[in-house]
Amino acid sequence: ETGNVTLDVGFVNTASCKSAITYIDGGAGILRYRGYPIEQLAEKSTFIEVSYLLIYGELPTPEELDAFTERIRRHTMLHEDLKDLLAAFPRDAHPMSVLSAAVSALGTFYQDSLSITDRDQIELSTVRLLAKLPTIAAYAHKKSQGQPTLYPDNKLSLVENFLRMTFGFPSEDYDIDPVVSKALDQLFILHADHEQNCSTSTVRLVGSGHANLFGSISAGIHALSGPLHGGANAAVLEMLDSIDSEFGGDVDKFVEKVKNKETGVKLMGFGHRVYKNYDPRAAIVKKSADEILKKMGVNDPQLEMAMRLEEIALKDDYFVSRKLYPNVDFYTGLIYKAMGFPTEMFTVLFAIGRLPGWIAQWREMMEDPATKIGRPRQIYVGEGARDY
Ligand code: SDX
Repeated sequence: ETGNVTLDVGFVNTASCKSAITYIDGGAGILRYRGYPIEQLAEKSTFIEVSYLLIYGELPTPEELDAFTERIRRHTMLHEDLKDLLAAFPRDAHPMSVLSAAVSALGTFYQDSLSITDRDQIELSTVRLLAKLPTIAAYAHKKSQGQPTLYPDNKLSLVENFLRMTFGFPSEDYDIDPVVSKALDQLFILHADHEQNCSTSTVRLVGSGHANLFGSISAGIHALSGPLHGGANAAVLEMLDSIDSEFGGDVDKFVEKVKNKETGVKLMGFGHRVYKNYDPRAAIVKKSADEILKKMGVNDPQLEMAMRLEEIALKDDYFVSRKLYPNVDFYTGLIYKAMGFPTEMFTVLFAIGRLPGWIAQWREMMEDPATKIGRPRQIYVGEGARDY
């Protein structure tokens, strides 16, 4: 009715739902899971205990934790026919595509846990996903390397099992490096949930139509794969490589290119939709990156380069005025690389960490429709009514 209307709508920040799971204060750089500060959980808890906390709302007693761990252990193997599906993918398939397809397929193999209302079925699909995602991820990696896959070893923890299936071989024992498994466990804690980010909102939106948990998580995996979201940890390494190859390691020259906004070059691993301060997770990762690489005896010049980039950006008005600080993805890739993961597996690691948060948010919505994500509305800026 109003004909052509030009609106400067900008980026409309609106609350999409209510939730009792994760609290973020973007201005102060605060992150809490069910009220517990991320710094305390990263230092004192484990990934499986944090998964329990996010999903059930309270820290488990030792008995509850043992029972939860045992329930997950029972489901780490994949349906043998699902392995045939995984074998059919091309070797150079991106593991995030394999992960999303395999998780979606879980709903076809395990049709006894598709209910969105039956508590036992929701428990079963929860445990199956937590147990099988690491196995699927390891299989995808082995497939890309043309190497034989390993069955899970249920004497190991979830993280140790994942490391062994990813880097071990059937022909020999695999020694778990305690430094690596502890560091990876802590990184999974840091990624476990982050309120209504792109992928979690996707899981909620798909679930709000009463799609089952496997399908909702499959959609979330795809959402996470984008380089502006979960794909950023890999994009940081590609950026550091390009500073070496295109700029001869000259960080200052690269920063100038970013500030001139040439060809959309961004400082990957910097900036955040919510944090307009230092991402508390990035501070923890930065601290442990140095320790872990030293303990592993890895001297990676790209860590120095990353720290130099951060040092420049934190003083440069271009970044300060736009409130651009390192986010969780800025240092994680350097640790994953030191652990031996190829770049295309970095976002897969993000997905394994984020899975309990996705599940917790989907379950919260199914259990309490008041936390349901609303059907998004829009500001219409198109043509007014007109005759054909
Ligand atoms: C994650 O939401 C979450 O919680 C996500 C996450 C989670 O745990 O789920 O925290 C995980 O996705 C972290 C973000 C990982 N992505 C990256 O590191 C990619 C690089 N970052 C940017 O793409 C960007 O910072 C975003 C998308 C993350 C956030 O963008 P904003 O806050 O919406 O900012 P914007 O796009 O509106 O840009 C504001 C200004 C612009 O300049 P002007 O037009 O004002 O001149 O800042 C500039 C942008 O060009 N800018 C950057 C920049 N990010 C924003 N300039 C250079 N480098 C960057 N990284």
